[in-house]
Amino acid sequence: MKNAERKRKILLLPGDGIGPEVFGPVMRILEHLVGWGVVSLEWEEGLIGGIATDRTGLPLPADTVEKADRSDAVLLGAVGGPKYDTLPYEKRPERALLGIREHLGAFANLRPARLFPELAGASTLKPEVISDLDLMVVRELTGGIYFGKPRGIVTEDGVRRGFNTESYSEPEIARIMRVAFDLARKRRKKVTSVDKANVLESSVLWREVANAIHKEYPDVELSHMYVDNAAMQLVRNPRQFDVLVTGNLFGDILSDEAAQLTGSIGMLASASIGGKTGLYEPIHGSAPDIAGKDIANPLAMILSLALLLRYSLDRDDLAGLLETAVRNVLKEGLRTTDIQGDGTKKIVGTREMGDHVFAEFKKVLEKK
Ligand code: IPM
Ligand code: MG
Repeated sequence: MKNAERKRKILLLPGDGIGPEVFGPVMRILEHLVGWGVVSLEWEEGLIGGIATDRTGLPLPADTVEKADRSDAVLLGAVGGPKYDTLPYEKRPERALLGIREHLGAFANLRPARLFPELAGASTLKPEVISDLDLMVVRELTGGIYFGKPRGIVTEDGVRRGFNTESYSEPEIARIMRVAFDLARKRRKKVTSVDKANVLESSVLWREVANAIHKEYPDVELSHMYVDNAAMQLVRNPRQFDVLVTGNLFGDILSDEAAQLTGSIGMLASASIGGKTGLYEPIHGSAPDIAGKDIANPLAMILSLALLLRYSLDRDDLAGLLETAVRNVLKEGLRTTDIQGDGTKKIVGTREMGDHVFAEFKKVLEKK
């Protein structure tokens, strides 16, 4: 096992709801990696989301931003909860998420949807539709209607109107396309670009730029699909997709759909890259309804750590071992409630699932 040269720094942001719970197993894995000298790493913790608002009055305190700036990567749990739903827009926990993504320039959000064969029975789709599923959603993360201006709520002649702007510039489209094509080169060399070019000008430009950038990648196949059709194709025949690239809002929606194909949204990790510091988070939210009950699935969080090791620390070897550890635990028949189905031998809670992954990880690491 090679030793990392420079000491890397990561920022840990457990956040709200089930965030701190699913962080438990991740801490043990990190401590083990450092204790064993497998990686040269240090970390600090920070506040984000509702808990940050509670303690500092702001969902994304300056202290957190400063810590992120001096880190190589940020690992985030989840933000939000019913307690914060009535806060003014600027103070809502979700603002912190958008704020840190934007601040870090993390414009490319990778959401791999891979089915662990053991979970074929846990999906709501037929096993023959989803077996061997392995697709990558590349979601543009710092543009589009999430950030477009003008935006707001105004009152005109006594009538209130809310509005937002979907907008993409040529360079914004070009850079996300290059991320998608580069990824496809390491996979099955197929990119599907999803838009709504039959209605939206921003999508007309999106398609044009996609075609232009494609010329740099003649070895990769590019096709286009309207977003409504893509939503349908994802449940009809998801295996037709390799890399699916799309804008911020469409990507938000389609990646939840893709997650469910793999059995549970509790399984999907994400990496947001493109800036100096990568941001890693499970795609499930804070799940306030199950928070504090020790039943949340920690696997998406653990798999997010795997992505951090792969993309920010350049340790594909360790990422692979962690993914193997997760796979082995699933093979043993251990399941959290959200992924129970055929092959379940024992239903376990967050902590117990974490214990098993940790034990398995130690085992596969020692074998190396
Ligand atoms: C996600 C989430 C966020 C988003 C919310 C919580 C702001 O749904 O990461 O997909 O819309 O990006
Ligand atoms: Mg979402």
